[in-house]
Amino acid sequence: MEDTPAPIRNPEILYTKIFINNEFVDSVSGRNFPTINPATGKSICDVAEGDKEDIDKAVAAAKEAFKLGSPWRRMDASQRGRLLYKLGELFERDAQMIASLITLEMGKPYLQAYEETLWSADILRYYAGFADKIGGKTIPMDGDYFCFTRHEPVGVCGQIIPWNYPPSMFVWKVGPALACGCTVVMKPAEQTPLSALYMAVLCLEVGFPAGVINVVPGYGPTAGAALTVHPDVDKIAFTGSTEVGKLILQAAGVTNIKRTSLELGGKSPNVIMDDADLDDAVTFAHNGVMDNAGQCCVAGSRTFVHEKIYDQFVAKSRELAEKRQAATGDPFDPKTLHGPQVDEEQYNKILDLIESGKKDGANVECGGASVGGEGFFIKPTVFSGVKDHMRIAKEEIFGPVQQLFKFKTLDEAIERANATEYGLGAAIFTNNINNAMMFMQGVRAGSVWVNCYDVESPQTPFGGFKMSGIGRELGEQGLSHYQEVKTVTMRIPQKNS
Ligand code: NAI
Ligand code: MG
Repeated sequence: MEDTPAPIRNPEILYTKIFINNEFVDSVSGRNFPTINPATGKSICDVAEGDKEDIDKAVAAAKEAFKLGSPWRRMDASQRGRLLYKLGELFERDAQMIASLITLEMGKPYLQAYEETLWSADILRYYAGFADKIGGKTIPMDGDYFCFTRHEPVGVCGQIIPWNYPPSMFVWKVGPALACGCTVVMKPAEQTPLSALYMAVLCLEVGFPAGVINVVPGYGPTAGAALTVHPDVDKIAFTGSTEVGKLILQAAGVTNIKRTSLELGGKSPNVIMDDADLDDAVTFAHNGVMDNAGQCCVAGSRTFVHEKIYDQFVAKSRELAEKRQAATGDPFDPKTLHGPQVDEEQYNKILDLIESGKKDGANVECGGASVGGEGFFIKPTVFSGVKDHMRIAKEEIFGPVQQLFKFKTLDEAIERANATEYGLGAAIFTNNINNAMMFMQGVRAGSVWVNCYDVESPQTPFGGFKMSGIGRELGEQGLSHYQEVKTVTMRIPQKNS
């Protein structure tokens, strides 16, 4: 964007402590953990490491802030909305700083981090508008009764987020929670605590009462798990791997039946018919799997291409991947399109899957290896000749790796698109309305795109079928997880006594 301010290459790191009750505090254990710059593999700084004791403190603060009669519970809903709106304004005001921190700690190219931060501000403003529009109904029930429903906040919400979209994940969670009047304990990903703590300080500036938002950095199996088993947490919202999603459901089940919403993995199909606009389809398919270095839950990681256009499609996809490869490098450089993977674990996982693709007999059209040198860079990779049984066809790679499959008929493509445990996104490229309608109806996925890919906006619900998750975030639908419906029934006297 033309008016994007230049990145801050060495942002001053002001906030590295745990945020509880509107104060920054050390961890109870006194331990810290390092935050790594994935473009260099070197440590940026140490951050206070939250664990069970810190989660206990944060949950106690959130519980206190949620008590009936507390400043937060007594606040007018319209005022709640004003605070959320103001938070959106501060995200926009400080987008340069937030984006710079994201680029530093996760390697997302700065321009993309900046745009994402502005988008996150829009989401906060969208949810701000709902705060004073959440109401119940009067219900014409049988008998001499007056019945109405109240939509009350669900309570203390534990929110566990991943590292791939730091500001979006923060606002997808806190936006609807605060609009509904809940309180929050957020556990950001261990890879991206710095941007989360900066967002916490913006919450402080806005003036949310103490304890309404708490942010506890730390690792998943310690701080994250403590949140999922805490008896005073009423709800968990999680985005991350399906593997951890299963653990979270179990934890909710063996403790206090926490309300649980999950946004998990995917292996999303993208079907290209032979009547599609080829260049459009190639570009959307490429961006749909390569953007954010492939670290996207809804990445179009299975591209099914009609046999009549397959060879052309492969050649054009290779060209785009090679172009992207040429724009790989320093994520602070505005010309960079392709940054590093977030950490060594992801980097190794992706390289292992690339090797499995080669071993299983898929063709490497380009890339297929690490960039080499410092940092966790992997070359944009295109595989052709991919077969459904291969590991790269089934497992979530979460990296810049495109799989091109060949198909003959739409029925076959729909069947193969659905032959996965996941169901997050799906797309079809076609100029035939009947193909689009057949696909839209037949595919089992939470979002279906026609002649576009991964187009989302604050108003549109997002989430998964099958093992891609439970519930929807964004849109009006995103509010439902943060409310309990209370039915109130009052007897109407039939005569004056
Ligand atoms: P992860 O699911 O382990 O981590 C996501 C969040 O959950 C982080 O905040 C982490 O600290 C927390 N966490 C981890 N273990 C936990 C536990 N036992 N209890 C509570 N919280 C826990 O994902 P990770 O390790 O970063 O990536 C592994 C794979 O997961 C990726 O390769 C990718 O396939 C998938 N993933 C999907 C995401 C999505 O957007 N749906 C985001 C990140 C990862
Ligand atoms: Mg993990």
